[in-house]
Amino acid sequence: MAMIVKKGNLPATPHTEFYAIPDVLALEEIHGSYGFSGPWSRKLHVRYYPTEQVKTPAKADFHFVPETPPEADIVQPFHIFTAELPTGGDALRARKPIVYGPRTTMAICKPDKGFPENAFFRNGEMHELYFVQAGEGIVHSEYGRLPFRKDVYINIPKGTTYRIELVSKSAWFLITESIFPIIFAPHYFNKGGQATLMSPVVETEIETPELPEPIDTRGQFPVFVKHGGGKVTRITMGHHPFDVCGWEGALYPFVFDVKSHHGIAREIHTAPPVHQTFQAGNVPNSGFSLCSFVPQMEGWHPKEIPAPYAHYNVDSDECMFFCNATYGARKGVIQPGSFTFHPGATPHSPQGHAARNSMAARGKLSTRLAVMLDTYFESLKITTVGYQYRDKEYTLSWDAARWEDAPKPNGWESPAE
Ligand SMILES: [Fe+2]
Repeated sequence: MAMIVKKGNLPATPHTEFYAIPDVLALEEIHGSYGFSGPWSRKLHVRYYPTEQVKTPAKADFHFVPETPPEADIVQPFHIFTAELPTGGDALRARKPIVYGPRTTMAICKPDKGFPENAFFRNGEMHELYFVQAGEGIVHSEYGRLPFRKDVYINIPKGTTYRIELVSKSAWFLITESIFPIIFAPHYFNKGGQATLMSPVVETEIETPELPEPIDTRGQFPVFVKHGGGKVTRITMGHHPFDVCGWEGALYPFVFDVKSHHGIAREIHTAPPVHQTFQAGNVPNSGFSLCSFVPQMEGWHPKEIPAPYAHYNVDSDECMFFCNATYGARKGVIQPGSFTFHPGATPHSPQGHAARNSMAARGKLSTRLAVMLDTYFESLKITTVGYQYRDKEYTLSWDAARWEDAPKPNGWESPAE
């Protein structure tokens, strides 16, 4: 994150005396990344350090440790109908990992309530990026109040203590987790740290938390800390965690609307890096690229084929979440909320007659919306939950016989001869 933000009240000079309450010394905390070398923020707590615990930590009554089915060891593409995962539970416990690796996890969370009252969550091992497929609410954290809505990303740095309030009756989140900070693609930024005039993202379009008055209250406040591959420990603080009177820095939760990814079109088909919004790790040696396939004009060359090529990115496992079912290359197979997982070990391609059909879209505005993640040198595994909601026909869905003989899907047009 390149933009420095300042909210509330802090001393003009770091690490000097400051009193938000008369005669009570405010206490400073640094929330840092990459040791003391990466993006960081400074927070001023009005009275207590965030280190205070008033009860012995204990194992929580829930966890997010993924389980895998035996079939996860057979290399194959998967298609998961995430729309069919049930909605229910609170936003703290409802996340269900569907694919995971040593450094990346992707989960679906479909709560019908926010967090339980006065319960907090802190992901102590992964940075988080929510994509909101449905629902509306507020992420409350020590950084303030951050409203969210459908079709936005919510970027929450590792270590942030937060709780989610739902305004809608339910929500549907795709949650991507990375051990590395999740940032805008650095090559979109100039040497001064500002998005270039050619970049599809504009950093000033992010939405940052509004900091309310600090909550200076004593009590018992459980914080559920995720660590160690999905284990959860309950720690108990003796004061409200949102006791911050001011903060400044470059590490903080923010919202970014997927439609603020301003697609760049080309006369002929362009490879996915042009759609990249975020990345994690030292790309392309580790971490992942995360792309937003927003509506945009298809290539307008007189012989352009808008559908992509078969591809085989051997150093990447590819995951794609389809917000709607209009993505041309997969028409007839996907549904809203479809999640495809293509291991790098096998190529994948458009389905059926998608390449021929796509010519009708030449030079026209698409209506697609999808989020794609490509890992670098990290193999993912499907979880038992992901496997349970799979499309059992997917591996054979490219079979030519199926497309010649089967009833034609919606949107299918006779190939031009
Ligand atoms: Fe692909």
